[in-house]
Amino acid sequence: MSYPHQITSLEQYHNDYRRSVEEPAIFWAEIAENFYWRKKWESVLEWNFIEPRIEWFKGGKLNITENCIDRHLEKLGDKPAIIWEPNNPEERTRVVTYSRLHKRVCQFAQVLVNNGVKKGDRVCIYMGMVPELAYAVLGCARIGAIHSVIFGGFSAQSIADRLYDAQAEYIVTCDGAFRGNKDIPLKSIIDDALIGNRTIKKVIVYTRTRTPVSMLKGRDVWWEDEMEYAETQVEKDNIITMPATEMDAEDPLFILYTSGSTGKPKGVVHSIAGYMVWTNYTFINTFQYKPGDVFFCTADIGWITGHSYVLYGPLSAGGTSVMFEGIPTWPDAGRFWDIVDKYKVNILYTAPTAIRSLMSFGLEPLKGKDLSTLKVLGTVGEPINEEAWHWYDEHIGKKKCPIVDTWWQTETGGVLISNMAGVTPAKPSWASLPFPGVLPLLVDENGIEVTEPDEHGYLQGNLCIKAPWPGIIRTTYGDHERCRANYFSAYPNLYFTGDGALKDKEGNYRITGRVDDVLNISGHRIGTAEVENAINMHAGVIESAVVGYPHDIKGQGIYAYVIYNHMHVDEELTRKDIFQTVSRVIGGIARPDKIQFVPGLPKTRSGKIMRRILRKIAEGETENLGDISTLLDPGVVAEITKGKL
Ligand code: WT7
Repeated sequence: MSYPHQITSLEQYHNDYRRSVEEPAIFWAEIAENFYWRKKWESVLEWNFIEPRIEWFKGGKLNITENCIDRHLEKLGDKPAIIWEPNNPEERTRVVTYSRLHKRVCQFAQVLVNNGVKKGDRVCIYMGMVPELAYAVLGCARIGAIHSVIFGGFSAQSIADRLYDAQAEYIVTCDGAFRGNKDIPLKSIIDDALIGNRTIKKVIVYTRTRTPVSMLKGRDVWWEDEMEYAETQVEKDNIITMPATEMDAEDPLFILYTSGSTGKPKGVVHSIAGYMVWTNYTFINTFQYKPGDVFFCTADIGWITGHSYVLYGPLSAGGTSVMFEGIPTWPDAGRFWDIVDKYKVNILYTAPTAIRSLMSFGLEPLKGKDLSTLKVLGTVGEPINEEAWHWYDEHIGKKKCPIVDTWWQTETGGVLISNMAGVTPAKPSWASLPFPGVLPLLVDENGIEVTEPDEHGYLQGNLCIKAPWPGIIRTTYGDHERCRANYFSAYPNLYFTGDGALKDKEGNYRITGRVDDVLNISGHRIGTAEVENAINMHAGVIESAVVGYPHDIKGQGIYAYVIYNHMHVDEELTRKDIFQTVSRVIGGIARPDKIQFVPGLPKTRSGKIMRRILRKIAEGETENLGDISTLLDPGVVAEITKGKL
């Protein structure tokens, strides 16, 4: 059995692609018919990339939770929507059926209402990977509140910045989160983030680790108490329900912060209908999901991959999604494979960094693992190197599972370029073909379309997209100009991805990596400017420059060159101090892998840091550093090279 809007042959792919380009309105109206609308749209698409203004299914009325939950109840009420695997494999699994999910989401939506949350209010969610996180996200969507999930690895300062930017008034959190052998004290981090905060009205705290937490009277409330009370309110004739708020197609669904080339993360805003259509369409087609399949996306819901492919994509398709609280290497490096066997997972979606990390443990952790239920494998977040691709293919897929290499971004809502499992051909380390509705274009620095192939016959350029697809970013929260400047101004009338790419004669794309000052560390985006700002906040630091360098497991590592004023302790301790500052300002995920103290930085006469040279040195290059004669002080280069870590 397949879905009506599922692409099932290569021929159909080409046909649908052509139709999506020639008659987008007709094509997407047909796809949108597969959802539940309170009222149908008046126009399918209105747009311009100048302002930009992008409106899909304008005039349509709906609620995304009715599409993700209610409409499945009759047929799938007793089927698992979410299978939850705890951090500790000894602990009890939780299977959340569609009926149970409906009940809990309704109940939590009532909790939000009881605490004063209204349509359009921003609710920050800072929780571990527990089913309650799904209830919180969907509970917001049910009443039209805008969720802004923050990954557990961000610091109090980062949370405070995001709360301020989103003008959030409500927080949902946990006492703590279990990850491997660590307990992360989430509530206490929230407490730090709230020092001096005057906008937050309520903090709802779910009990997970039962670490002691401070609870401020009038502000902090327990999830459990609130849910118990809400249950009595939403129960009528033994049925728990809470009406979903009718929303406009273009109302915002959520904000998700992501890094760019400036020091300040931006709040990417996605709107309801387009995002729903896009995550659903890409989910069923990329992975060739069939009703009843068990889908396991290993991403945390704090990132876009978790939003789109742990929650909205699978649930809108009535699918079964495995949600994992822990990490791939705890209690041992066989954890993913145990989960695959335990729940008979059919589709596994993970990041190349996880594959490389598990590869480094050798084949021992695979002993005794069956893995025979797997049908499709996927990767996301960074380019996958051929070695990791082949290991995944051979040892996990046993050469019988197509691998989908899915290229997309926080801003794109869902997959834009990827093969479709078993339907369109895979090419190791190539993301391959664009989805219907996606019109990629490779341009040079001047925005001119690249038409001359290189010596391998590939076109090479900066990757842009010519027209909107339903899941495209709508704005950056509170600052539309920032959205325009960031994505729509580099090249007029094009969405610029920030990535470089190659294109072969068959029309396949290979992503070569970021062309801006954005790093990709273990599949997570971090701006060099952001890390520099954090390092520069450390007392004693005069200036710093951060670049990426190739890292065996993380893909890229963070290399920081730091000019330090006066060191009263040794270098090693000073490094640790700087790590500490970065962890405070951004969070552990931005901690540099290497810090080299330098006497100066290579600068042009106009004061611009020549990152090209620093990148080369970090990569281990000593000889061919390019022209350094234009530097203010060419001598500094030799000193930096000498001190290379
Ligand atoms: C950046 C987006 C997409 C969700 C996870 C990351 C890189 C992503 C691939 C891929 C090569 C990839 C790009 C992109 N990227 N997927 N399959 N092959 N590169 O989302 O944090 O918004 O980062 O990740 O550089 O621009 P994100």
